[in-house]
Amino acid sequence: MTVGIPISRLWPDPAAEPLDDAALTALYRRADHPHLRVNFVASVDGAVTVDGYSAGLSGEPDKRVFGLLRMLCDALVVAAGTLRHEGYQAVRLSPRRRAWRREHGLAEYPTLVVVSGSLDLDPGQAAFADAPVRPVVLTHARATAPPGLVDVADVVPVGDDRVDLAAGLAELRRRGLGQVLCEGGPQLFGALTGTDLVDEVCLTVAPLLAGPGPGRITAGAAAAVRHLSLRHVLATTDGVLMLRYARA
Ligand SMILES: NC(=O)c1ccc[n+]([C@@H]2O[C@H](COP(=O)([O-])OP(=O)(O)OC[C@H]3O[C@@H](n4cnc5c(N)ncnc54)[C@H](OP(=O)(O)O)[C@@H]3O)[C@@H](O)[C@H]2O)c1
Repeated sequence: MTVGIPISRLWPDPAAEPLDDAALTALYRRADHPHLRVNFVASVDGAVTVDGYSAGLSGEPDKRVFGLLRMLCDALVVAAGTLRHEGYQAVRLSPRRRAWRREHGLAEYPTLVVVSGSLDLDPGQAAFADAPVRPVVLTHARATAPPGLVDVADVVPVGDDRVDLAAGLAELRRRGLGQVLCEGGPQLFGALTGTDLVDEVCLTVAPLLAGPGPGRITAGAAAAVRHLSLRHVLATTDGVLMLRYARA
């Protein structure tokens, strides 16, 4: 791919030379066991959005890693709130990234997985209607699917009256989707933290102050503190930090 703003490693083993895609792929490599990775971008003062969207925080290097993480996962999990608000499109990968997946024995595209308690979802949204792989919707037994949703997605109840996220992850693993990337949003991240399901957090810090107003990357009920250990720090020449933390 055409590489724009260089990304280099600050820690461990600082190296000034830019990381190419092969080096980035190695740094974010797939785990050899079932694994849940969460990816977010935030401002220096902790905002999850600028003007209501994550786009104001993200730049070319963040998008590059965002795409790379999609290439590396089996399932791409997103909360219904983020899917609706950000107008998720069908998952697309470049021919080069699809070729990488084939060479590594993976399906050509990851499976989109949507978490929704209400099933207030539009089957006509491109994320469903144009999906290259039939998406999965994790919900609970009391939710009623809107007309057309079961035509474009597997609607899977996990839990009687709320989405049991641990059971949902077990269902994904049963389907052979062991490497899971969660792209948010904050309520889902908060619930995953509360149930201690988060194995890794990739956090891009955008060099700006968003000021008061926007929420944080996590939301919902209070949860026990979880300890993480730092795995790497990458930086771009325009001041973006890319941090990778995993379970301590
Ligand atoms: N900076 C970033 O990297 C980033 C990443 C993602 C999102 N965002 C931003 O975050 C905002 C969206 O946040 P949000 O408050 O809507 O939170 P969210 O977590 O994206 O979505 C909340 C909704 O998702 C479903 N959901 C989440 N967790 C659930 C659980 N444990 N069980 C059942 N359903 C669950 C529910 O959908 P139903 O209502 O269908 O039941 C819930 O109403 C947007 O502004 C977006 O731009 C930023």
